[in-house]
Amino acid sequence: MSGFPKILESTQDLSKGQISTLISMAKSLKEGQNTPFFFDQDKRPFLATLFLENSTRTKTSFAIAAQKLGAHYIDFDVSTSSLKKGESLEETLLTLKYQGVNACVIRTPNSGELAQFKKDPPLCIINGGDGTNQHPTQALLDLFTLYELGLDPQGKTFAIIGDIAHSRVASSLVDLLTRFGGKIVFCGPKECLPKSVSGPVMLTESLDEALELCDVIYTLRIQKERHTGPTPYYDSYHKLYGLNLQKMQGLKKAPVILHPGPVNIGVELSKDLVRSPFYKGYEQVINSIYMRMAIISATLGN
Ligand code: CP
Repeated sequence: MSGFPKILESTQDLSKGQISTLISMAKSLKEGQNTPFFFDQDKRPFLATLFLENSTRTKTSFAIAAQKLGAHYIDFDVSTSSLKKGESLEETLLTLKYQGVNACVIRTPNSGELAQFKKDPPLCIINGGDGTNQHPTQALLDLFTLYELGLDPQGKTFAIIGDIAHSRVASSLVDLLTRFGGKIVFCGPKECLPKSVSGPVMLTESLDEALELCDVIYTLRIQKERHTGPTPYYDSYHKLYGLNLQKMQGLKKAPVILHPGPVNIGVELSKDLVRSPFYKGYEQVINSIYMRMAIISATLGN
């Protein structure tokens, strides 16, 4: 894909055309068409994951996606690396580059940490989530899933319910959904809502209002690890903002539910709801492989 960024830090690094092309590529890959395997043994690229924060979905799906494409995969082990001896992230990436690594997926707890590499990138970098800033590949796979479910964002209202203030997924997703014509309702306790919003985005503390307005529900967990203060609302969260099968069956519309994971079952969603047809979180997991295959292909074809 022409002009694909060497560093994918944010969804804003991509044009609408590039986003649409990634979605088409992911769709073709899922349908088994045009799989751009790296066939030539001598030219198989190396992709590494370097995760400074825990992950199940993102790291594993990049590992699977890289290997499905025929790339070599390096699971860089932060805990046994020289990062623990004080080596900087920049020196680490330069070392990986000179060892022959072509691209690195990085997760960091520090918002904006990857921006330092934009001017002179040591190698291709894909943001696997940075602090509360951005999680572009999650939002891209969510958009792919919405199209696959027949839910073109144009003219639709998305209720994003939960800890929006501490969510990197929400930042990336709102950028994509609004650029593709969607409207957003942020819903949660006031401690979880952003202080201000702009564009086609509204705030409400009322779950009933959000459910009344929306076509699609996107739930987020309370990200306790990113809170600096106490979370007094946590114990009453399920009663006030949690969703269960009975509540969903009582709605006039039947919106689908997406969640980036991990789900805290019994807090934002009940187990019966996660096992019901309302919940599309496992479709997101399946689609993560194909969207990340598309992103790796576009990055390494740079
Ligand atoms: N959605 C997401 O980023 O999940 P992981 O933290 O498990 O990678």
